Amino acid sequence: MSALFTPFTLKRVTLRNRIAIPPMCQYSAQNGMANAWHLSHYASLARGGAGLVIVEATAVSPEGRITPACLGLWNDEQAAELAHIAAAIKAAGAVPGIQIAHAGRKANANKPWEGDDHIAADDPRYWETLSPSAIPFGQHLDREPRAMSHADIQRLQADFAAAARRARDAGFEWLELHFAHGYLAQSFFSVHANQREDEYGGSAAGRGRFLLETLAAVRQEWPADLPLTARFGVIEYDGNDEQTQQEAIALTQSMKEQGLDMLSVSVGFSTPQANIPWGPAFLAPVAGRVRREAQIPVATAWGLENPHHAEAALAEGHIDLAMIGRVHLANPNWPYQAAQALGVERPSWVLPAPYAHWLERYR
Ligand code: FNR
Repeated sequence: MSALFTPFTLKRVTLRNRIAIPPMCQYSAQNGMANAWHLSHYASLARGGAGLVIVEATAVSPEGRITPACLGLWNDEQAAELAHIAAAIKAAGAVPGIQIAHAGRKANANKPWEGDDHIAADDPRYWETLSPSAIPFGQHLDREPRAMSHADIQRLQADFAAAARRARDAGFEWLELHFAHGYLAQSFFSVHANQREDEYGGSAAGRGRFLLETLAAVRQEWPADLPLTARFGVIEYDGNDEQTQQEAIALTQSMKEQGLDMLSVSVGFSTPQANIPWGPAFLAPVAGRVRREAQIPVATAWGLENPHHAEAALAEGHIDLAMIGRVHLANPNWPYQAAQALGVERPSWVLPAPYAHWLERYR
């Protein structure tokens, strides 16, 4: 019996297996609008058999996009296009999820394959970047952001809530708040980005306030019976890792009390001076600690593409869901091959019937 192919229920949603496709930006939108690329991309991922497909980081406001080609959910027109994607994911038997995001000081960048650096100030595609403090990320993203005012904070929390409402109305059944990867919310939590002296900075409780308030604002709009999750960097690999993990776990406990149903455990990416121990399943033990100490279901990504590694991380109790990212870009049918590798009975039935039936016949 494979752990990876065991269903998973959270609130009223049941995933057909423990394979989740994490958000992966396509950098292929215009004016925040999804198009034929996104529709076929997400439909094909869902047909490949994963239980959950999470649509890429989708910005809650125009200046929250990583690049000018990122998706948005700040107007109803964008929601209408995303509704087709949610329906296509669902029609293929997967649960449609979406990650809502604000890129903070890492916003207004060129596409990764066109430089990955900040757009120049004299470029017509330039916009102002926002962060808790006027501290640049550094390296290729060296622009100094504007420190957010209280009015900015309130506006952005309202934007998160409005995006959650639009995601709900568009038919998404799983919401992930992007509190990770050095973007806006992670920047509030991180001492590398947050040097504020008001109630949104200082102590761990101060640095967690933006995240907790944003979660509370979203909780008002997102249905109580659907999973509300967050992706959060609980470790930076910057040499201060024990303290960061303790603070992150305490904040996760508070988020759980405020209605968070699951945490996707990730890396902070708040500083270029990190020494990340890349390798197969490297984050699984970190996720396991969060699961144990915060007593909340967890997912993680990063190097789980060997089905035996994903299976072990689940079977050993580190994670509840395995996020399988890049390998799906090369092979949307990864779950079928994982089922074969793990000896699942009738593995072709991981795929939809119009595919599965024929893979079993004439043998
Ligand atoms: C990502 N990642 C990512 N993470 C996130 O939280 N929101 C996002 O929108 C994106 N976008 C994105 C785009 C692309 C092209 C890649 C490759 C990655 C990170 C991603 O979700 C995942 O954590 C990593 O790819 C690691 O998992 P794998 O690929 O090792 O399974």
